[in-house]
Amino acid sequence: MSVGRRRLKLLGILMMVNFFIYVIVEVSKSGGQEKNSKGQVILPSSKFWRKYTPHKAYWNRQQQKLELLYNPILTLLSNMTVEENLISNATVLNSCEPDPSVTSEVKDFAKLPDRFKDFLFYLRCRNYSLLVDQPNKCKHKPFLLLAIKSLIPHFDRRQAIRESWGKEIKSGNVTVVRVFLLGQTPPEDNFPDLSDMLKFESQTHQDILLWNYRDTFFNLTLKEVLFLKWVSSTCPDAQFIFKGDDDVFVNTHQILDYLKSLSKDKAKDLFIGDVIKDAGPHREKKLKYYIPESVYEGSYPPYAGGGGFLYSGDLALRLNNASDQVLLYPIDDVYTGMCLQKLGLAPEKHKGFKTFDIEEKHRNNICSYTNLMLVHSRKPQEMIKIWTHLQDPHLNC
Ligand SMILES: *[C@@H]1O[C@H](CO)[C@@H](O)[C@H](O)[C@H]1NC(C)=O
Ligand SMILES: *[C@@H]1O[C@H](CO)[C@@H](O)[C@H](O)[C@H]1NC(C)=O
Ligand SMILES: *[C@@H]1O[C@H](CO)[C@@H](O)[C@H](O)[C@H]1NC(C)=O
Ligand SMILES: *[C@@H]1O[C@H](CO)[C@@H](O)[C@H](O)[C@H]1NC(C)=O
Ligand SMILES: *[C@@H]1O[C@H](CO)[C@@H](O)[C@H](O)[C@H]1NC(C)=O
Ligand SMILES: *[C@@H]1O[C@H](CO)[C@@H](O)[C@H](O)[C@H]1NC(C)=O
Repeated sequence: MSVGRRRLKLLGILMMVNFFIYVIVEVSKSGGQEKNSKGQVILPSSKFWRKYTPHKAYWNRQQQKLELLYNPILTLLSNMTVEENLISNATVLNSCEPDPSVTSEVKDFAKLPDRFKDFLFYLRCRNYSLLVDQPNKCKHKPFLLLAIKSLIPHFDRRQAIRESWGKEIKSGNVTVVRVFLLGQTPPEDNFPDLSDMLKFESQTHQDILLWNYRDTFFNLTLKEVLFLKWVSSTCPDAQFIFKGDDDVFVNTHQILDYLKSLSKDKAKDLFIGDVIKDAGPHREKKLKYYIPESVYEGSYPPYAGGGGFLYSGDLALRLNNASDQVLLYPIDDVYTGMCLQKLGLAPEKHKGFKTFDIEEKHRNNICSYTNLMLVHSRKPQEMIKIWTHLQDPHLNC
């Protein structure tokens, strides 16, 4: 080959390399964002997905690695398909042995509270098995699926919900079905053995989903991920889903009226609740929501408070896919916000969701409940009382 031709070839290669770098930078900038239903690319408002310099905080750093695995351009350069790349890095994604690297990778690991140590050790395990299933729950394609996060010992809360706002309905073409989402409450956590009672309850009511993991506050994200997977496999035709806690009162009539009034367009990407914007991790050690700097840095995407939110079944299927690309985060509602952001969506605030309760002076007035969708918190007896009053045909508000 002549020197001139060699130079030309070199120039050609350099230009190609340049082009690839350009593509990579562009793809990284957009963070692989998808488009919304109107075809507009949603640029993240916060710096959450934008920052691509290595992070000091462990979660952010691991999330970056995960995003590299899903980056089609980078995998192309490594001569592998995204799928092959994911398989070759299977342990990065799914490993249920405690991950020993966290003890050195997380600055001040030894000083962290135990719940963080537990969370970090098992960060990559999410394939827990379903011990109690309801495989026929959705055979009639429910209009609304009520999914209530509960704990095994909360028998009275579940029963109050069954007798009040959580009744299963079949009226005309509108079907409402109910499931309770449970994990294990093991003897190591000093729980009494309630398995016989749970078995009886499940056989009687056929509304229990139980997974084989420790039901703790930080594992609520597992509950979310496993529930989304269940929806995809067992309830993919649910038109709408309400997911919330077992200590909220829900005005199911109001929710059904609202859902029936929605346009098709609005219904597809529906995600409403009590939305929190411009929030970030709490740094005060004593708080329930405390997150150390060594674990997470940056702000949170907009998210709907986990007390209860309402979304479309179609979106649940997309969220299930998106959740593969988001590392578990110890706060479940923030995690759902992160998955929504991956899809280029944001939850919408609806004033009917009162997760911080209504003013005390209005709490005993039944008319305060006719127009709201959700209020937190109510005891089992209060739920039954409010619901009974709402059914009164002479109710005049
Ligand atoms: C994925 O696996 C490849 C080859 O096994 C390795 O070079 C790469 O660093 C891994 N990626 C991540 C994010 O761990
Ligand atoms: C990379 O791609 C080339 C050309 O397609 C192929 O010949 C080679 O075997 C591939 N290498 C690996 C490691 O798969
Ligand atoms: C999850 O999958 C991993 C890898 O396939 C396996 O080693 C592990 O036992 C599974 N864990 C559970 C809880 O099923
Ligand atoms: C139920 O039937 C009514 C009247 O036939 C119709 O307008 C409505 O769209 C149907 N709703 C659902 C959820 O299929
Ligand atoms: C979550 O559940 C898994 C499986 O039971 C358990 O190993 C882990 O300690 C739990 N994590 C937290 C933070 O409680
Ligand atoms: C989820 O991912 C699977 C596998 O990649 C794909 O077949 C399916 O269409 C996706 N579902 C949605 C709702 O995007």
